[in-house]
Amino acid sequence: MKKNRLKYAGYSLFILLLALTLAASSNDKKTVNDEMGVFIDSLINEMTIEEKAGQLTLYTSGWTVTGPQLRDDYVEELKAGRAGNLFNAHTVDYAIKLQKIAVEETRLGIPLLFGLDVIHGYKTTFPIPLAEAASWDLALIEKTARLSAKEASSAGINWTYNPMVDIARDPRWGRVAEGTGEDVYLGSLMAAAKVRGYQGTDLSHHATVMACVKHFAAYGAAQAGRDYHTVDLSDRVLRETYLPPFKAALDAGATTVMTSFNELDGLPASGNHYLMTEILRDEWGFDGFVVTDYTAINEMVPHGVVANNKEAAALAFNAGVEMDMQGGVYSKYIPELIKEGQIEESRLDAYVRRVLEMKYRLGLFEDPYRYLNADREKETLFSKELMDHALELAKESIVLLKNENIKGGPVLPLSKSTKSIALIGPLADNQKDMLGTWHVAGDESKAITLLKGIQEVAPDVSINYARGVSFQGSGSSGFAKALQAARKSDVVVMALGENYQQSGEAASRSEIGLPANQLELLRQIHALGKPVVLLVMAGRPITLEWSDQNIPAILNTWHLGTMAGKAIAEVLFGDHNPSGKLTMTFPRNAGQIPIYYNMKNTGRPFDAKNKYTSKYIDVANEPLYPFGHGLGYSDFSYSEISMNKKEMTQNETLSLSVNIKNRGKHDGKEIVQLYIRDLVGSVTRPVKELKGFQKVAIKAGESRKVTFSISSNDLAFYTRDMSHKAEPGAFEVFVGTSSAKGVSAKFSLK
Ligand code: BGC
Repeated sequence: MKKNRLKYAGYSLFILLLALTLAASSNDKKTVNDEMGVFIDSLINEMTIEEKAGQLTLYTSGWTVTGPQLRDDYVEELKAGRAGNLFNAHTVDYAIKLQKIAVEETRLGIPLLFGLDVIHGYKTTFPIPLAEAASWDLALIEKTARLSAKEASSAGINWTYNPMVDIARDPRWGRVAEGTGEDVYLGSLMAAAKVRGYQGTDLSHHATVMACVKHFAAYGAAQAGRDYHTVDLSDRVLRETYLPPFKAALDAGATTVMTSFNELDGLPASGNHYLMTEILRDEWGFDGFVVTDYTAINEMVPHGVVANNKEAAALAFNAGVEMDMQGGVYSKYIPELIKEGQIEESRLDAYVRRVLEMKYRLGLFEDPYRYLNADREKETLFSKELMDHALELAKESIVLLKNENIKGGPVLPLSKSTKSIALIGPLADNQKDMLGTWHVAGDESKAITLLKGIQEVAPDVSINYARGVSFQGSGSSGFAKALQAARKSDVVVMALGENYQQSGEAASRSEIGLPANQLELLRQIHALGKPVVLLVMAGRPITLEWSDQNIPAILNTWHLGTMAGKAIAEVLFGDHNPSGKLTMTFPRNAGQIPIYYNMKNTGRPFDAKNKYTSKYIDVANEPLYPFGHGLGYSDFSYSEISMNKKEMTQNETLSLSVNIKNRGKHDGKEIVQLYIRDLVGSVTRPVKELKGFQKVAIKAGESRKVTFSISSNDLAFYTRDMSHKAEPGAFEVFVGTSSAKGVSAKFSLK
């Protein structure tokens, strides 16, 4: 045993010398890869089957509600080399203890990988991903990932289970909070930006982490929005809608992929050879490793495609899945399965190699403690850089849904000389819930509440605060105090919505309105006749039909994280002009779901005069707020579209522009959106597809020309024979402030 450890130590020295030589001479990637190959091959040669299975095993640590804890049972697994990777083990102190066990007490001393769900920040909590997406700001999004990586890696993490790139068109599904919404084009760009941010250009740098793109695949298409439910899709829809963000993330260099819980075409993803091998490896050439979602291999038993865990392990393994998260079945059954010839040892070696390669690329063989520096951790957590970004991103994520004129002017922004406001609702003075779902390590004690934010931003305004109502339930004992606060104030600000557990995993809702009691309080406050501003804080689109009809100003503020209160207060009082735009359609009621902007036209498109067209008889077809919608305190007008040509060939690009004028009194930002419709295709095409956008700052009274170019790439789709190309014909182009409002023109492709 000792000999092997010494051998490993010798390798470390060898690698260090090699790195120094390379740095001094040329940066020859091939040589590094060759050396990595030699190192890993000889390590694999030393490994027993059990140790190999251990490298394919990932367990959650013994972290409990009260903090990190070294649990005897998994410490034994670690020491025996039966668990090569851990998640939910963070903080330098804790991770050092665990890494020491792996390095000093296992036979081969192979370092552990430390994973965590760093979904929207580590300690400093950024807006939930769906909110962040509303910024439409790729540079900011990349920066969020980079800073998340910096903070998490300072606490020992070298692998995040993000980005979550599941396209989501059903707001009943609680996990819509974790992704970027309904659009494929936007989702793909954002997926790539996140991967670049997390991984940087050098995985071995102490401030970068491996990204894990998830959940592969089509998890967002769960029937009826019920989490973990069945998915049944055509290959066309899979490839057109659900796969592109994964491909984009992998093209950006994502090193790992997580399987999804759902079945696809009758086979759970974790045992699905078509997904894990044919698409991922053979078509896309992915060379990182695949990890399952939590116990997803074992769940193939209740799915009903295998009779027991051993069969499940064989199915997943042979489908192409490298690592078993938390199920413990690889570690338990791989040795037996090899003996019985049900799986091949050469394949086992290939899987182990992919995992060890990542440990090598992270620099863990060179220095297993490179991410474990207590001084760096102390300096980095909640640093100014992180907090400033949290504030900036939170402001960019807010979406102004409605802002009516009353008494001659718009309700928002509020004047800082307003004498008094009533601040009411369960989210008005609340630190924890604003952090939103998956604030795994987030520290609520640092969160700025709305009450505190308003006190800072508008210190002269007197605030009459009342919680008024709880998130759920039917008690009305708090109503009287809330009504009284409203009565004695000039303006009422209501902070309503969801708590952090009402969205996210295992938090599907069948009704997605404001919880009944909150709505009831809103109605009673509204009846007082005071100007009311509604702040909707939630992890999903909320149905707001009554509010839209009755409340003059509505801001959708999601769950914005640590700096939420400050960001919202700055928007409320006009220090920041909101510019966020929805990346998920807001339906009028849950019966309209699934509803998304790039639907098909059907053979009987809506016609109000014709009963026999595609529509509801009890609700409009249009959503309440369409994809891309979002107002601001400016007022932008769009000119007609001008184009450099009306006809293009497959090799040409077409350039078009619009002039946008800020007619308002506030400097502002506009997210200008470009949509295209292919009027006749070999298969039906959506009525609109986003193909470009620009976020431009325009000063009050000024104009700006915004130019887009279109190439045949933007017009390509899966044609009737499933080849991906642009078909000649007529197209409509639409440039607008949302998917529903803008100017259009026509062109053709020869
Ligand atoms: C979730 C994943 C997550 C994993 C580890 C699962 O329940 O579906 O998204 O990464 O747990 O925490």
